[in-house]
Amino acid sequence: MTMSRRGLIGASAVGAGLLASAARAGEGATTLSKPCVISTWDFGIAANQAAWAVLSKGGRALDAVEAGARIPEQDLKNHSVGRAGYPDRDGHVSLDACIMDEQGNCGSVAALEHIAHPISVARRVMEKTPHVMLVGAGALQFALEQGFPREELLTDESRAAWEAWKKDAKYAPRANSENLDYRQTSGQLGTPGGAGNHDTIGMLALDAAGNISGACTTSGMAWKLRGRVGDSPIIGAGLYVDNEVGGATSTGVGEEVIRNVGSFLVVELMRQGRSPEEACKEAVARILKKKPAARDFQVGFLAINKRGEVGAWAIQKGFSYALCDAGKQDALLPGASFY
Ligand code: GLY
Repeated sequence: MTMSRRGLIGASAVGAGLLASAARAGEGATTLSKPCVISTWDFGIAANQAAWAVLSKGGRALDAVEAGARIPEQDLKNHSVGRAGYPDRDGHVSLDACIMDEQGNCGSVAALEHIAHPISVARRVMEKTPHVMLVGAGALQFALEQGFPREELLTDESRAAWEAWKKDAKYAPRANSENLDYRQTSGQLGTPGGAGNHDTIGMLALDAAGNISGACTTSGMAWKLRGRVGDSPIIGAGLYVDNEVGGATSTGVGEEVIRNVGSFLVVELMRQGRSPEEACKEAVARILKKKPAARDFQVGFLAINKRGEVGAWAIQKGFSYALCDAGKQDALLPGASFY
C-alpha cells in the first residue's frame, strides 16, 4: 500500500475529533496493491477482512464483495445494513442491495423484507434470472424460491428505537404525510446520511486477475416512507463498475445520488482522466450545485481505478472508508469533504 496523503488511522484511533481534523481537501493519492478491497465506513474493516479471505487465495472479486457485504448484513449492532436495520415509518424492515461484476453483469433487490442477506439475493437475480432488479413482494417470492429463509428482521433494539422515534415524529404512521423532507426522518439519529442514519456499505474489490466487482447493501434511511428505495440498489447510482476503468459506490442520502446518477458519473469522470478522488469530488460538487440545501445532508462517494488508486469525497466531514491489501488489513481513512 502506498500513501502520499494523510496518514492512515487504525481502527482504534477512529474518533470524531480525529476524523474532523483530517477531513480536508486531497493531498495526493492512495494506491493499493493487487488484490485489494475498499469499503465505506468503519464497519468496512470487518467486511474487508471477509473479502480478503477470498482475495488472498486468488479468489474472484465478485465472491469477495459478496462475502464482505454479508458481514454488516448479519451484524445485530448495525442498524443501517441488513437484518438489524431500523425499520420504515410503519415498522417494516426493508432492505436494498445490488452487485456488479467485471463483465457488466448486475443484479439488484429493493424493498426486500424478511430476508437477512439481500446482497446474496441480488447475486441470484444476476445469475439465475434474465432480469437486473426485483422489488418488494416479487423479490421476496424469488428469494424464498431460491431457498433463502424467511425471518423476522425487526430486532428488539430496533423496535425500541422505532417506538422512541414515533413519540416525537412529525410524520408518524397515520399522520399527515405532506411536505416531508429528510429532516423528519432523523430525530435522535442526527443528520440524514450521517453515521446514525443510514450509512450504507459500498464495497469495491480488485482481484489478482485485475478484475473489479462491487457490492452495495443497506436498510436505507431509518423511518423512511414505506416503499421508499434509495440509491443503493440502483446500478449507476449506488454502485457502478466498468472493468476498463474502475468502480464507484456511494453512501448517504440516496435521493441526491439518484438525481445525479452518482456512481456512474464517478466512473465516467475517471474514464476521462480524473483521479478517483477528483472524480468523487466532482460528483459531490454536482449535487451541491443543483441543490445547495444538500449541504445539510451527507453523501459520500468512494472509488478505485484499475491501477489500484483509491479516492473519496463527501459533503460533510465524518465520512470514513476502509482499505485492505497485502500490506495493510485494517486501515481506515477519513474522506475529504466540502464542509
Ligand atoms: N444510501 C442509502 C439510501 O439512501 O438508502
